[in-house]
Formats: sequence, structure tokens, C-alpha cells
Amino acid sequence: MKKERLDKLIASQGLASRNDVKSMVRRGEVSVNGAVIKDSSIKVSYEDDIKIKGKSLLQTEFTYIMLNKPKGVVSASEDKRDKTVVDILPDELKRKNLFPAGRLDKDTTGFSLITDDGNFAHRILSPARHVDKTYIAEVSEKIDFLKAKQAFADGIVLSDGTVLLSAKLELIEDGEKQVFKVVIKEGKYHQIKRMFASLGTSVVELKRIAIGGLLLDSSLKEGEARIISESELKLIERR
Ligand code: URA
Repeated sequence: MKKERLDKLIASQGLASRNDVKSMVRRGEVSVNGAVIKDSSIKVSYEDDIKIKGKSLLQTEFTYIMLNKPKGVVSASEDKRDKTVVDILPDELKRKNLFPAGRLDKDTTGFSLITDDGNFAHRILSPARHVDKTYIAEVSEKIDFLKAKQAFADGIVLSDGTVLLSAKLELIEDGEKQVFKVVIKEGKYHQIKRMFASLGTSVVELKRIAIGGLLLDSSLKEGEARIISESELKLIERR
């Protein structure tokens, strides 16, 4: 089991900044395996019983982060040219091995889930698991909603012959511009843009607003991130 500095491990849970944790340790509020610790630099792991003011630290081995992704940032852990979703995380949320579970295009905004749990990522991305991904899409040219809804439900055939799973389409704005809510269960390359392209229009704005039953936290501004709680995590895979 990987050992980390006490202050780093506590801060990585997103509960407090590293400096706040150091102050708590100095005040004698932190214990490890029953002993009050006054030195933040001791090495601990998730197997140790860490308590803050007598309460057990939420000890999950893995980290799950919700980021409201801004435009211009790529969905990767590292990139030579562009800033990545991992680069823009605040320091207190950063830890090793984080990667985005699923790719949003560089110009797509919204809910990017960043984790170090490979099995979880695999589960929520597998089309067989049917974890819905919900998007808001604004299009350039208006289309016939009822025809489009039926085509989405039947399974769109992309220009390269790929047959997609059934998807849901809802019209949420139909004034000067047309805006849709789209729910898909898979994540093919440029999927939503290609779905609308097959109907003769193009997507001009795209934002992911939910993964499974977990909505993007509306208090997160673009570029902001926070830890996903255990109960929220369950909403993602709830059927
Ligand atoms: N579909 C797209 O076309 N782009 C995204 O970023 C996500 C889904």
C-alpha cells in the first residue's frame, strides 16, 4: 500500500487544504492508529486509522472528481501542446494516476469525471452497462424535432456505417435557436456532433450535464472541481 505524507493524504480527500491540515495537526486534532500526531510529515497509508477530531477520515482508496470542464482543455492526463483536465485541477485534489473517465472534445464543456479507479472507469464507459451520459446541445440549423427524436430512438447510422444504440432526444428551446437535451449510452468519437450531422445540422455548443443519475453541480463554475461523495458515486451507476 502506497504511503504518503499525513498532510498530503488528508488534503487529497478534498476536506481541507494542505496548510489547514498542518494547522489541525499542530493543534493535536489528528490521530493515527490511536496516537495523536504532531508531525504532518509522517508517512501513512489508507490502511492506517486516521481520525480528525475523533472522526474517521473518509478512507476510500480511490479518488473521484467532478470537474466543470471549460473549453480549450483536452480530456487526457498529459498533453504536449494543450492544458489537460488533470493539469487544471486545484493542487489539493491532485494525486498520482488520475485520468478522465471518458473524453469530452476540446470545445465541449461540463461534467468531466476524473479518477484513478480503472475498473470504475471501465464500468461507466462500457455500452453494455448502459450508464447514461446527458448533454445539452445547441445546433446551427433547425431540424424537425419529431423526425429527429424518432431517428435517435431507432439508432442513428453514422456516415461511416456505424450503427448507434438508441438515444433520447428532448427539445428544450425552440426560439431563435434550437437547443436539445440528448441522452446517450456510449461514447464514440465526436458522437453527438456526428449524430446531428447525420440529420443535416451541426452542433455549435455542447455541454455534458450528467453521468448516470449524477448531475453536474450547478455551483461549480467552469474550471472548478470537487470530490464526488460516496453517495453521489452510487447515483452514477444506479439503474
Ligand atoms: N459527443 C461529441 O460529439 N463530443 C463530445 O465531447 C461528447 C459527445
